[in-house]
Amino acid sequence: MLEDIKIIIKAGTQAPSGDNVQPWRFVVNDSVIKLFNVPEADNSFYNISQNASYIAHGAVIENMAITAKTLGYNANISLFPDSGKSNLVATISLEKGNTQNQPLYEYIEKRVTNRKPYTSDPLNDEQKNNILSCANEFKDARILIADDTKDVKKLAQILSLNEQIVLENKQMHDFLFSHVVWSEEEERQKKRGLYIKTLELKKPQEKMFGLVKNFTILRFLNRLIGISKKVSKENGKVYAQSSAIIAVSTNGDTKESYIKAGQLMQKVWLTVAKSGLSAGPLMGVILLSQMIRGGSTNDLSQKHINLLNRAYVEIKNIFRIKDDTIKVILRVGRGDEPSAYSSRRDPNITF
Ligand SMILES: Cc1cc2nc3c(=O)[nH]c(=O)nc-3n(C[C@H](O)[C@H](O)[C@H](O)COP(=O)(O)O)c2cc1C
Repeated sequence: MLEDIKIIIKAGTQAPSGDNVQPWRFVVNDSVIKLFNVPEADNSFYNISQNASYIAHGAVIENMAITAKTLGYNANISLFPDSGKSNLVATISLEKGNTQNQPLYEYIEKRVTNRKPYTSDPLNDEQKNNILSCANEFKDARILIADDTKDVKKLAQILSLNEQIVLENKQMHDFLFSHVVWSEEEERQKKRGLYIKTLELKKPQEKMFGLVKNFTILRFLNRLIGISKKVSKENGKVYAQSSAIIAVSTNGDTKESYIKAGQLMQKVWLTVAKSGLSAGPLMGVILLSQMIRGGSTNDLSQKHINLLNRAYVEIKNIFRIKDDTIKVILRVGRGDEPSAYSSRRDPNITF
């Protein structure tokens, strides 16, 4: 069983996480796996109240559940089982059962964030139905698909507001640049962070990216040529080259609601991968809006707060959401293979 547990945990750690920070560790007691959050792994603005990490943990749990079933275990999952231990996200108790064929299993390794432009061909009915049916087992989370060309274009433009803000806010800028993995050598050492080659920057963009690492230079370029808005516009054009933009929504703002959204996100992402399509999250605006609605603004300027508030209302209107809050946004479409892949550290497991 120990070997199976190692396989299940390894599959868990193939999950996506914001800036590839991998904020998890595991403790194993007999047939029980405890999944812990590592809050110090991500102190970004985006991770207010650990919400971004909880989405990632939802993906870890989904991968683990799929793998456990594949290996012939029933996985009993209990979220936040001990109110005294806030970092204990879940216990996953394994019980020997029947092997269950899991068509998504092989896509756990293949799923990837693809930041290339995609072709904008519409999703066919089968693809849409497969995506929508991911929500069948989730009574607390819902999937919404925006695939009208005008809606996709509008959403792409709204969601790229994130880049404008990152390039105008010093704290957000500093966090991003301190989490870039700049070289193949660093990536081989499995440094936590965003590997630059996965950002799909063209040569001149990569040069500029290296330059604006210095916030003083960036501020100057913002004044001189409005570079933050230019980058945002360029990225918006890439995001618009998608077949659809998918939202996962849940009710309320509890830790569990983020975990559930992360589970459903992962199921959708694996399903999208299975149908030969690419996907990439566009979460900045959503996570920052959530932070503002939660009553915290960190040091966001009033101008950015206003822009984010307006953006969130527009996003909600396009998806026609009333009571739920949007927790996840993924763009999907047919893209060429990514130029590079993000690595994972060996899982931190205490036996
Ligand atoms: C909560 C969360 C938020 C994310 N937000 C973004 C985002 O806004 N833009 C983006 O390009 N990638 C985003 N990502 C993708 C991660 O950067 C990516 O998962 C990570 O670098 C690992 O790469 P992989 O998904 O290819 O394994 C997000 C992932 C998670 C889980």
